[in-house]
Amino acid sequence: MSAFKERVFSGVQPTGSLHLGNYLGAIKRFVELQSRMDCIYCVVDLHALTIATPPDELRDGIRGVTAGFLAAGLDPKRSIIFNQSQVHEHAELAWIFSCVARVGWLNRMTQFKEKAGKDRENASAGLYTYPVLMAADILAYKATHVPVGEDQKQHLELTRDIAQKFNADYSASIRARGGADAFFPLTEPLIGGPAARVMSLRDGSKKMSKSDPSDYSRINLTDDIDMIAQKIKKAKTDPHPLPGSAKELATRPEAENLVGIFAALCDTTPDQVLEKHGGAQFSQFKSALVDVAVEKLGALRAEMVRLSNAQDHIDAVLADGARRARAIAHPIIAEVKEIVGLVSAK
Ligand code: TRP
Repeated sequence: MSAFKERVFSGVQPTGSLHLGNYLGAIKRFVELQSRMDCIYCVVDLHALTIATPPDELRDGIRGVTAGFLAAGLDPKRSIIFNQSQVHEHAELAWIFSCVARVGWLNRMTQFKEKAGKDRENASAGLYTYPVLMAADILAYKATHVPVGEDQKQHLELTRDIAQKFNADYSASIRARGGADAFFPLTEPLIGGPAARVMSLRDGSKKMSKSDPSDYSRINLTDDIDMIAQKIKKAKTDPHPLPGSAKELATRPEAENLVGIFAALCDTTPDQVLEKHGGAQFSQFKSALVDVAVEKLGALRAEMVRLSNAQDHIDAVLADGARRARAIAHPIIAEVKEIVGLVSAK
């Protein structure tokens, strides 16, 4: 592993608008990482095609996620920010990897089973091979670390399996070209972060999600102050006052979620939040949470609104990021082609 330069890669799908779960679970983490590592953050628009999306919605989604990245504090000078489809090496490597991955491996992917639902025959072939494209995203840059949610752990394992099989199947060719034994790193997931799992405001056992039919289940990053306040006030709770320690939240998913959100927004821990608010009724605690949410998310929202009127700027950021991403991915994919025996013009 140590032979590989440390590099972070992560991707966010441009489907629907960004919500608090995306922010606290992923993007806030991305911002922390960019101050200490080389980071590449990708709007994975090709992945969004696996489930039919109206073209205008997809376009808005790609720019919207980019705006969210920038508004949250990702710096396009420091980190590489781009959309996947502008760097064709992703799709090219995905094809080669689809010949490395085994059908048996893909058959085990639980996310496909969940997303395809009952009508599996009618799911797109892209939804099935989705994790292969994800492996290509990561390994096109030989990324060593990938911040993701718990639900993506299995896809990261598949990425390692693909890297390992590629390294083994082509070991002679890799060595003949004077390379180290392993061409691809075995990428590590970075799970956790400020709030790894932000749950629905309507049901503490379900993840906050863009696909939940109730808009009251989530706080969108574009919600205005009144909307945020209303959603928090209506959030599901239980009849007891808040406990004095985080341990006692274990059997109270809604309370745990609200305390977790509070802590993540303030960069502190649930225990510290409860030191101050333990014993409080939910009505009191919710008022405090509204204040914190409005304070922390207000500026982010204002910046998103400003950026939604600056399409040229967004597109320029993506174009510049794509150019820099290509400069890393191109030589790696050129080498992969040589290793597997494809012939290219010199
Ligand atoms: N599958 C990821 C998700 O739904 C998105 C994604 C695509 C990704 N490619 C990636 C995440 C590469 C990390 C690295 O959240």
